[in-house]
This record gives sequence, C-alpha cells and structure tokens, in this order.
Amino acid sequence: MTVAAGRVPGLGHALALARGPMRFIQGLRAQGDVVTFYLGTTPIHQINSPELIRRVLVTDAHRFGRGQIFAKARQLFGDGLATADEPAHMRQRRIMQPAFHRDRMAAYVDIMRSEMREFVDSWRPGHVVRLDREISQLTLAVTAKALFRADLGTAAVSEVCRSLGPILNGVTKRAMVPDVYERIPTPGNRRFDAGLRRLTTIVDEVIKAYRESGTDHGDLLSMLVASEMTDTEVRTQVMNILMAGTDTTAITLSWAFHELAADPAVRHKVFEEVDTVLGGRPVTAADIPRLLYVERVVAETVRMHTPVWLLMRKAISPVTLGDVTLAPGAQVMISMPALHRDPALFTDPLRFDPDRWLDPRASEWPKAGVLVPFGAGRHRCIGEAFALAEMITALVTVCQNWELLPVPGHRVREVARAFLRPNALLMTVQRR
Ligand code: HEM
Repeated sequence: MTVAAGRVPGLGHALALARGPMRFIQGLRAQGDVVTFYLGTTPIHQINSPELIRRVLVTDAHRFGRGQIFAKARQLFGDGLATADEPAHMRQRRIMQPAFHRDRMAAYVDIMRSEMREFVDSWRPGHVVRLDREISQLTLAVTAKALFRADLGTAAVSEVCRSLGPILNGVTKRAMVPDVYERIPTPGNRRFDAGLRRLTTIVDEVIKAYRESGTDHGDLLSMLVASEMTDTEVRTQVMNILMAGTDTTAITLSWAFHELAADPAVRHKVFEEVDTVLGGRPVTAADIPRLLYVERVVAETVRMHTPVWLLMRKAISPVTLGDVTLAPGAQVMISMPALHRDPALFTDPLRFDPDRWLDPRASEWPKAGVLVPFGAGRHRCIGEAFALAEMITALVTVCQNWELLPVPGHRVREVARAFLRPNALLMTVQRR
C-alpha cells in the first residue's frame, strides 16, 4: 500500500488537505495508482488510474456503496436519487429516467432560453456584473421552472429561488462540522431551518395541487406525480434534483464564460458560429446539434473545470484495487479534475483548447475512464443532457448580443468548496 508522503502523527494529512485541497490531491497522482492518505486516523484511498476508476464506478460498482459524504444530504433531504443505495436507487432511477428523456429536452431548452433572455435584458453596456452569482440565480430558476412549469408552480419557483441559496451553503458547512453545530441557534442555522421548512411546505402544496389537477403539464413534476411514488418520495426527488442540478451547472457555465473572456480567438469563433447557425433568431433544441464549436467549448470547460472534485465510495464487500485489498467499510475517493488534468492522459492539460475534441480518440475517453465529469455506471448523472443543453443555450443566447470581458486587475482563483468553483467572477458586459 502506498501511503501519501507527509503523514503527521494524529493528524494524518488533514493540514495539507486543508491548506490546498487540489494541490494536495493532484500531488498524490504522481505517487501511484492507489494512494492512501489519512484524515486523522481514518484512511482514504485515492484512485488515480483510469482503469481502476472504471472498476470502482462501473465493473465493480456492486462492491461499493455511496459513502459518508452523502449521509448529511440524505439526513436533510430524504433518500432520493442522488443519495440512495441499491436496491432503492435502481427503482428510483427507472421511475425518473423518462423525465430526462431526449423528447422532453425541447421544452426545457425553451425554458432555458427565455430565462437567459430575461436575465441579459437587465444588463447595461459597460456595467460590471458578478457573473457567478447571477448564473447561480439563473440555473436555479431554470431548474425550478423545468420542475414546476405550470401556473400551479409559480409560487414554488420564487420560493425555491429565495430559499435554496442559503440551504445549499448551509449543507456544505453542515457536512464539515459535527452535528451538534446544527442545534446552536445561530442566525445562519435559523435561516437554514426556516428555509428548509418553507421549501418543504411549498413543494408539498404544489404536489397536492398537481395530484388534484390530474393533468400532465409537460414538466418534471408531472412525470414524478404520475409515477408510482408516494408524495414524500416525490418531494425527496424534487429536493435531490434541486441540490444536484443547480450549483454544478452554474459553476461550469461560469467557467465557460471565464474561458471565453480570456481568449478572444475562441470567443470570436463562437460569435461566428452563433451568427452563421442562428442568423439572429432564438436558439431551439433543434439547433444544438449544429452548434459544433460551442459544443466543443462546453466539453472542454467540463473537462478542465469539472466541479465534482470529490467523489466518494465505501467498499461493502472485499475488493482488491491495484496493490491494495480493501475491507468492507474502506473509503475510496476519486477526484475528477485531478484525472482530467493529468499530463499522462491529456496533452498540455491546463490549456483551454476546444479543438482537442477533434482528436479521433476523444470519443473513446469516457469509455476508457479517462474522462468522467458526469460519473459513470449506475450513478452516471441523470441530468447530463439537461446540463449540456442548458450551458449551450445560455452561451449562445448571451453571445448573440453580448461580449463579456475580464475586469482588469481582478484575479480569478479556483477554490475548493462543496464544488470546485471560481472565487468571484467579475465581468464587464459590452454589446457586440
Ligand atoms: C455540469 C453539470 C453537472 C455535473 C458536472 C454533474 C455531475 C454529476 C456526477 C459526477 C454524478 C455522479 C455522482 C456519483 O457517482 O455518485 C452526478 C449524479 C447526479 N446528477 Fe449530476 N451533474 C451536473 C448536472 C446535473 C443536473 C442539471 C441535474 C438535474 C437536473 C443533475 C442531477 C443528478 C442526479 C439526480 C444524480 C444522481 C444519479 C444517480 O445516482 O443515479 N445533475 N452528477
């Protein structure tokens, strides 16, 4: 077994991890295919090779459960698709899959476009915007509207937008500190508890209204209500989708705008394609397959800036990975950004290069376990197509009329929180 260099008695590697999580994790990559580090005295096995990552996520997935990190979300939001283990997970996945089917995407793209348009309409040329925050609001509104499209859900959409921000922040904090912290009546905890109560109440009311109306409104909630799930199960899934689908997409989309702002050549190629394909008309789902360069920009952003920097699993039966035999209960960790920035796998991995996707081998990367931004196997992201469509629609709608430029002197840094995100993204918005 390879133990990471720099272990401190009692603390393990906790300090090095806290000081610079991604630096620490990327440093482990060079030390072996499976490298063990310690949080205090608890060993965590980081898996660095694509073959072994594929085994954990796909071929040997039945030997692993989700692991500790999901426990807090499960406790707060119920055991939904994003946290459940087998056999409950497979049953839920089967019920939820149709809501994310390709046929539904056209309606979702219409929601994405109209939200994005409303959002850019508030911009004034020359203004500086805090883009990462604005995009968070946008993805929240898009997900909420895709869930509750009907008039019956209007109040829920505004409530979700109001409550979910503090809840998302609170979950991260709560996952990192002992449970007793939650019972201290700090203003943050009170806001969190009140937000969660309000959100639960309003989601329950909308579910009731949908059941009574008995109509398919063409949204996610209609699909869930029509399924064999109880009201509590439907509510749990709604909460899970809001949790799993908003920040991840917002952060990746923010990085895409950051990369466009940093490289005029890439930006102008996007402008050219958007003008040629759309000629000024609003984007629809049917246009997406023709926006090939924009698609490569999004793929490259997802590779370089994968927000999920920590994916945990827990062995539930003995399993040997490389030279390590894991006993049940052993914790395994996969860091997607560390994998996607490995110079042994990608040429010049820190360079943002949408054209690397023209490489004929690119289509093999996911199957080989080299590129897994949305996971792989039974837990592969159910919202992948939704997220890609949302990012493409947002980029195109902005780039039709606007050019976003970096603010001189403002340095954008990557910070590891619940997700790997930009510290703050300030941008000047100009009319094209
Ligand atoms: C760029 C955006 C996104 C990224 C990078 C991303 C990434 C991921 C990853 C890595 C997983 C696998 C987790 C695991 O193996 O334990 C996952 C699962 C999941 N994602 Fe996403 N996601 C994104 C957007 C979305 C969206 C938009 C939705 C919903 C609207 C969504 C809903 C889910 C759900 C429900 C799961 C659990 C699936 C299961 O276990 O069966 N995600 N996502």
